[in-house]
This record gives sequence, C-alpha cells and structure tokens, in this order.
Amino acid sequence: MKTRSIIRGVGGYLPEKVLTNADLAKMVDTSDEWIVQRVGIRERHIAAEGEMTSDLAVHAARAAMAQAGVGPEDIDLIVVATTTPDYTFPAVAALVQMKLGIHHGAAFDIQAVCSGFVYAVAVVDSYLKNGLAKRALVIGAETFSRLLDWTDRSTCVLFGDGAGAAVMELVEIADGEPDRGVIASALRSDGHHWDKLYVDGGPSSTGIAGHVKMQGPEVFRHAVGKITDVVESALDQAGVTVDDLDWFVPHQANKRIIDGAGAKLGLPPEKVIVTVDRHANTSAASVPLALSVAVADGRIKRGDLVMLEAMGGGFTWGASLIRW
Ligand code: ACO
Repeated sequence: MKTRSIIRGVGGYLPEKVLTNADLAKMVDTSDEWIVQRVGIRERHIAAEGEMTSDLAVHAARAAMAQAGVGPEDIDLIVVATTTPDYTFPAVAALVQMKLGIHHGAAFDIQAVCSGFVYAVAVVDSYLKNGLAKRALVIGAETFSRLLDWTDRSTCVLFGDGAGAAVMELVEIADGEPDRGVIASALRSDGHHWDKLYVDGGPSSTGIAGHVKMQGPEVFRHAVGKITDVVESALDQAGVTVDDLDWFVPHQANKRIIDGAGAKLGLPPEKVIVTVDRHANTSAASVPLALSVAVADGRIKRGDLVMLEAMGGGFTWGASLIRW
C-alpha cells in the first residue's frame, strides 16, 4: 500500500478579449510573420478592465472542480501560483477562497513566475503526503498583460492572460493496483540570473508594479538546457526513460524553446502538447491551460505517463512526472 497525490480534474479559462498579431502590428513595429516564426504565437487573450487574476483563477477552479466532481466544501487547501496578484497582499488564494465561499482550510500563493504551477504541484504533493490537507485546488493564474510595456515590441508580443487549475487529492494505492498520481518532481532555481528576466518595480523597490524586462537571447540560451536537466532528473528518480512518456506538457512560452527541448530529449513532436499559438505565454497559467486542453480533447487519459515542465524568471525551473 502506498499513497499518491492524483490530479482528479483540470480546467482552464481565457478572458474573452482576443488580441491577434495583426492587432499588435497596429500598436508596435512588428508583424504576424515575425511573431509566428520566432515564437509560434498567433493570438493572446487580455483580461477586461476590472477583471483580476483572482477572477480568472475562480473560472478555472470551477471548471476543474466540475471535472473532478467536487464542490468548494470538499477543498481544504488552495494554492495559487501567480506573478500578478490582484493586490500586493492578501494572497490571490485567499481571494479565490472568499469568491468560492470557502471558510475552512488554508490558502496561499507561490511566486516562481513561469515555473509556479510546477512548483505548486510539488508543494501540494508534499502537503497531501504529510497529512496537512486532503484535497487541494492548485491554480496558475495571471493577468500578465498588466506588466507589459505596450511600446516595447521585444516583450509585449510574447505574453497573455489566463488561468488553469487542477484538483489534487491523496489516494491509497493497494499493492498490485496500477500506479497513478505524482511520481517524481524536480525543482531548481538560480537567482544569479535574476536580471535576465524580471519586472523593474515592486513594493520594496519603486513602489509601483513595473514592467517586464528581458534579455531574450540569454533566456533562450539557458531555457533548453535547464528544461532537459529537470526532465531527466524526474525520469531518473522514477526509473523510467523518455520513451516511456506518453505526453510532454511544457511551459507554453515559445514554440522554438518547446521544439528545442523536445528534440534534445528525443521526444516525437506528436507527444508534445502545444497551445502557445492560442494564448501566448501566460506564465504560471500556461502548463495547466495546456493540460486542460489535452485532457478535454481526450489525448491525455487514465494510465498515461505525463511530464510537466516549466522554466522562467529567477531563473526557476522544474518538472513533474505524473501517471494520469
Ligand atoms: N517584431 C519585429 N522585430 C522584433 C521584435 C518584434 N516583436 N522584437 C524584436 N525584434 C527585432 C529586434 O529589435 C532585432 O532587430 P535588429 O536586428 O534590427 O536589432 C531583431 O528583431 C532580432 O532581435 P533578437 O532579440 O536578436 O532576436 P532573436 O532572434 O533572439 O529573437 C526572441 C528574440 C524571440 C525574444 C528570442 O530571443 C526568444 O525567443 N527568447 C526567449 C524569450 C522567451 O520565450 N521569453 C519568455 C519568458 S521566459 C520563459 O518563459 C522560458
């Protein structure tokens, strides 16, 4: 007998307003061709005025709970991975808790930028296994558009808003029963790279939220190696190889980074879930958004071996191996 944290349901949400590459070409000196060729993005969604990260998170959470067949009363932990909180405090997770009408349990945010959801899965896995909670909402949610300098073509074309969520719970697996749930996690960071991708503001520096600054080629240079490093670490921990994977669900930042990591790992493109063309880089929301699409369209199904990975500001990077 062993215990595992399983993902019982997933859901995603994208705000109504769509901003296409053609729309962006009217705002800055760019083109659909440049954006598609460099990063594989065609459109992104932008939150409406007054629509906040917690609102996006609640939509995704409701979808995940519906798929899991559970209600707010069944949730005793809410963890939101975000870089774009509604307020400096309280945590978005506390606002989600309030909006879902939950009074019990615990709620907090995780800040690991684009790696946030993968970090949150590992943290919640530990919470569940240590008996600190029974069933959790794990959410990646961002209104990243609010950190963008809309006159800077090198960054504003890359990001969008959205949310994705998962319901995780602890199950017991009897000897001889098929394994499922989170099998291995690998988390890394190296703060020496902080200024390669950061926001030039915050409560303790400028007192205002600030805008994204990025050394694009430097990020690109580090991304593929760091992604393959954590993916291989998770595979090694589980004693499996890349050929055992059914699905690779990477952070949806950039099609060229996804292709580079897939090729370096030796993964056939048909095993790689790609949704970045539809919503751009939604930071912590991108992995659960991609996951929710692939579960909804029937690609990811019970028993499949699924690798999640992400890399982002910090730098932070991580991977999570899950038997669905
Ligand atoms: N449209 C048109 N031209 C542009 C744009 C744009 N939106 N942005 C930059 N350019 C221009 C530059 O000004 C430059 O022009 P110049 O040669 O006249 O100076 C030219 O394109 C090339 O610029 P580079 O920065 O050298 O372009 P590169 O080929 O490296 O591509 C890119 C830039 C796409 C940002 C690439 O570096 C990259 O993909 N980096 C990773 C970025 C990323 O994915 N970040 C997401 C967050 S990190 C993460 O989540 C993993």
